[in-house]
Amino acid sequence: MTGTILVTGGTGTLGQHVVPLLVDAGSKVRLLSRNAHESAAGIEYVTGDLLKGEGVATAVAGAEVVLHLAGGPKGDEVATAHLVDAAARAGVRHLVYISVVAAEAIPLGYFKAKAAAERIVAESGMPFTTLRAAQFHDLVLKGVRGLAKLPVVPIPGGVRLQPVDSREVAARLVELTLDEPAGQVPDLTGPTVYGLAELVRGYLRASGKRRPLLPVRLPGKAGKAYRAGANMTFNGTQLGQRTWEEFLAEQFG
Ligand SMILES: NC(=O)c1ccc[n+]([C@@H]2O[C@H](COP(=O)([O-])OP(=O)(O)OC[C@H]3O[C@@H](n4cnc5c(N)ncnc54)[C@H](OP(=O)(O)O)[C@@H]3O)[C@@H](O)[C@H]2O)c1
Repeated sequence: MTGTILVTGGTGTLGQHVVPLLVDAGSKVRLLSRNAHESAAGIEYVTGDLLKGEGVATAVAGAEVVLHLAGGPKGDEVATAHLVDAAARAGVRHLVYISVVAAEAIPLGYFKAKAAAERIVAESGMPFTTLRAAQFHDLVLKGVRGLAKLPVVPIPGGVRLQPVDSREVAARLVELTLDEPAGQVPDLTGPTVYGLAELVRGYLRASGKRRPLLPVRLPGKAGKAYRAGANMTFNGTQLGQRTWEEFLAEQFG
């Protein structure tokens, strides 16, 4: 492919793995960020804000493919609607979107926004590819690190996760971006299912900390959905290879 690939979210955890892979593959990369950056070899930066709809038309102008990784705790459906609208007008040939596993099954704002954004992409009329990924090891580490700051670590009972390495998600997205539009593709998860206590114990072991764990009950509809395993309902699965233990070993040496 010789055309420009616009990457949103290219400065984030996932994007920082994706962008060098695209550059190495010989792609012309344009990166949309809310902040100004110096252009680097093979990368052109444009400034804009997807939530506010600012700079989006300039970002998509002349792009052949859009890889949409930008996201935040709130408003992904609004940001995606602005991007999709501009991309459709600009005649983008392929829109690639990263979503989250079980987006429609968890009654929390972030998941609802991802499900709504998926629908906006699928109904855009543009050829698209959507990949749902499980929680990244990086995010789980941030979460358990935060919990382990407490003298006693609360562990919501019955919650399981199958976290995935963000580098494997990046590699899969690059493959999908350089290929033809494929619609919704099988979800990408890590190789192993863990209870939250196992994830926390792994972190405590790897970081040389000792904390007592306290089982708690996650309240509300979201708690019920997690205990019922709704977050583990996948759309077909492809398994990544790197485990939580391998990721921790890299982080803590
Ligand atoms: N983390 C996970 O476990 C996980 C799991 C499944 C799916 N995902 C999805 O994967 C994507 C990337 O996640 P991540 O963890 O890499 O995110 P991240 O590290 O928090 O990075 C967020 C990225 O989004 C960009 N961004 C945020 N708001 C924006 C706005 N209003 N306009 C333009 N750009 C904006 C940021 O760019 P600037 O700051 O440069 O503007 C940054 O590059 C997200 O869509 C997320 O929902 C994440």
